[in-house]
Amino acid sequence: MDVSAWIKEAALARDKAYAPYSGFRVGCALIGADGTVFHGCNIENGAYGPTNCAERTALFRAIADGQAPRSFQALVVIGDTPEPITPCGVCRQVMIELCSPDMPVYMANLAGDVQETTVSDLLPGAFMLRV
Ligand code: THU
Repeated sequence: MDVSAWIKEAALARDKAYAPYSGFRVGCALIGADGTVFHGCNIENGAYGPTNCAERTALFRAIADGQAPRSFQALVVIGDTPEPITPCGVCRQVMIELCSPDMPVYMANLAGDVQETTVSDLLPGAFMLRV
């Protein structure tokens, strides 16, 4: 699979979003070391605080499914934004913990715009406790 196929996967994940409060649907495709694609979508909550972003849903899902932290190839996130969507600060912190710092992150929108960055570029000077 190439990046354009991964973006299509992220768009399919977005279709599964549960976003009744914001109406803003986000999808994520997290690519495992062997090419397995883990879908994530945002899942909102009426108490607001428990809302989970698409990126964290994919990461937590993959880890719970037995994927090793920092073994992922790439992460793609997509939303209906004028410019490619950028991950929130909480997701950046979770990415720096669970992904390699040099892992590519592809940020996309429904218009077909894509921007590539890395986990470490998204969160310079990140706090990390490693055991
Ligand atoms: N959201 C994501 O899922 N990922 C992002 O990168 C940005 C924001 C979600 C959280 C919430 O459900 C909705 O988008 C509006 O903030």
